Amino acid sequence: MTSFILAIDQGTTSSRAILFDRQGQIAAVSQQEFPQHFPQDGWIEHNPEDIWDSVLATCKDVLVKANVSALQVDGVGITNQRETTVVWDRKTGKPLYNAIVWQDRRTSELCQSLRDQGHTEGVQAKTGLLIDPYFSATKLAWILDNVEGARERADRGELAFGTVDSFLIWRLTCGKRHVTDATNASRTALFNIHTQQWDESLLKLFNVPANMLPEVKDSSDDFGTLDACWLGEPLPIAGVAGDQQAALVGQACFRPGMGKSTYGTGCFMIVNTGETPSLSRNRLLTTIGYRINGKPTYAMEGSIFVAGATVQWLRDGLNLFADASETEALARGTRSGHSVYLVPAFTGLGAPHWDPKARGAIFGLTRDTGIAEIVAAGLQAVCYQTRDLQHCMNDDMDASPGKLRVDGGMVKNSWVMQFLADMLNVQVDRPTILETTALGAAYLAGLRLGWYETLEEIEQLWRCERSFTPKMDEVNREQLYQGWLDAVSRVRSS
Ligand code: G3P
Repeated sequence: MTSFILAIDQGTTSSRAILFDRQGQIAAVSQQEFPQHFPQDGWIEHNPEDIWDSVLATCKDVLVKANVSALQVDGVGITNQRETTVVWDRKTGKPLYNAIVWQDRRTSELCQSLRDQGHTEGVQAKTGLLIDPYFSATKLAWILDNVEGARERADRGELAFGTVDSFLIWRLTCGKRHVTDATNASRTALFNIHTQQWDESLLKLFNVPANMLPEVKDSSDDFGTLDACWLGEPLPIAGVAGDQQAALVGQACFRPGMGKSTYGTGCFMIVNTGETPSLSRNRLLTTIGYRINGKPTYAMEGSIFVAGATVQWLRDGLNLFADASETEALARGTRSGHSVYLVPAFTGLGAPHWDPKARGAIFGLTRDTGIAEIVAAGLQAVCYQTRDLQHCMNDDMDASPGKLRVDGGMVKNSWVMQFLADMLNVQVDRPTILETTALGAAYLAGLRLGWYETLEEIEQLWRCERSFTPKMDEVNREQLYQGWLDAVSRVRSS
């Protein structure tokens, strides 16, 4: 009887459950979108109950779809939108407030004042991060300070904090485990990536009580048992990683210098830096790529907040097309070198600008600009932003990867991938399995469950579907990129 690992991929706009076999092949996928809440300008929330319901529903559905019994599932891997912050009641398991999503900018002022007080260097030295509303620490402090009675209840030990992985594990284990993994912990700005511990001085700085925090485990570890009440059988939860780090594992970027870029809601370029947590001079992030057998592998990350979300906005906000698959034909219909630039700074700008107050804009409109040019500009923006990151990585690492592995929904669009290869002037490799985030979670669980003995074994399973090699000439490339830099300089708040 074939056995499977159930990977739960809890993302920003949807939850997915995917069944993988030992070869890393997909048996079935189930996906469910859930509502986004925008209570004020720059605020983004999820109802944790929607997250939970969609996870449970997709887990049940994927088993039905594949006609697989829970008895055939050897274990569970979880990967998740990172930084998104949930606080819940330890007794009832009920959330105190909506989840504050990673894109949420409500703590911009608090971050500014911490930066003004000179804390940037200290925070970066310990966490590898910058002081920005993106990370969990200020979101958690906001909940404690703004939900009535929260701080007192937290001090009494009644509340638990977690990123989405923690919250899901709490629910899946019926409140038996309050845990997270090192990759998720490394995105909170409360975790010291050198000592691998929650850091007391950071807890003090952000005013967060230690008793709320989960236990931090390896990415491949014992995270408890998914209770039999949910899927009919008890299942070990054996792998957990934040989605971008899980993609690094799913793309088998196990050697220093290997990198991947994932184009989901946002775009996240991560390069493995091995055992060394090197700090960026260019406002990139140092993060934990994965932690196995107590040994952290570090990575450098460039985070762009809006990538696939641009396509979603062009589709749902502007109604320019009905389905994302139409964008490739639209873009192919534009003349090369058109002058339209779309800067998707809907929630500010991430790396390397870190400007939470910047907002989006479209530049270079002419009388012959049509839907196709605006769509193409939205797609190109993602490539230009990747080039911004590549530029920083080159400088920080003295050499960035000569090839880039890509994944996420947008990479199905071959026009975008060719433009990306042209803009970066490196080879772009698209793997056969594009669900690399979920695959990474399955691999991490598989390592713990004995499906795989070593990372080398997993490396052998990676397959390239298509490589895109640069074709654009230097002059054209630089001219186009200069136009982008000019457009970005015009949306910056300072
Ligand atoms: O840091 C945020 C990231 O984890 C969100 O990923 O796939 O929802 O864009 P995604």
